[in-house]
Amino acid sequence: MRNITIGTTVKVFETEEEMGDENLGLMNEAVLALKKSYSPYSKFQVGAAALLENGEIVSGANQENGAYPMCLCAEMVVLSSISARFPGVAIKKMAITIKSANKVIDFPVSPCGACRQTLLEFEERQKDPFQILLRGEVGAVYELESARSLLPLSFDGSMI
Ligand code: THU
Repeated sequence: MRNITIGTTVKVFETEEEMGDENLGLMNEAVLALKKSYSPYSKFQVGAAALLENGEIVSGANQENGAYPMCLCAEMVVLSSISARFPGVAIKKMAITIKSANKVIDFPVSPCGACRQTLLEFEERQKDPFQILLRGEVGAVYELESARSLLPLSFDGSMI
């Protein structure tokens, strides 16, 4: 028997000044995208914005439906929009933020498992890692170096 340790290094920005202009600009785009959220059921808005290698920013928000399994996460909306508008253009980084009607969330909220798997497959296809920035409504920002770092021991389509 042996143990293995799988680790992820997360950079933590405590202040906006620490983030740098590009990160701050992208996070502000994610905040603006919260307005696009249609979330009357959860009252939990999620906004995401991706900076592409061609300089374009694609943003979106979660879209809910009375038939709950049909809800679309903000990350999926953004990834689908990239596929439709800029097929083949690599993602450089993605910022994700939230706003809850119930409470002020002051810690970074992470993407759900399905979004992590989808983000990872985008990353695998472009053969280049992209950074992910996470923030609650307020508080510190986490910066992850890659989608892979969000999903250790991931399922990989090449295993099929
Ligand atoms: N949601 C996202 O948009 N992204 C995630 O990664 C997790 C959850 C949305 C789905 C639903 O509209 C609301 O948050 C509450 O689950």
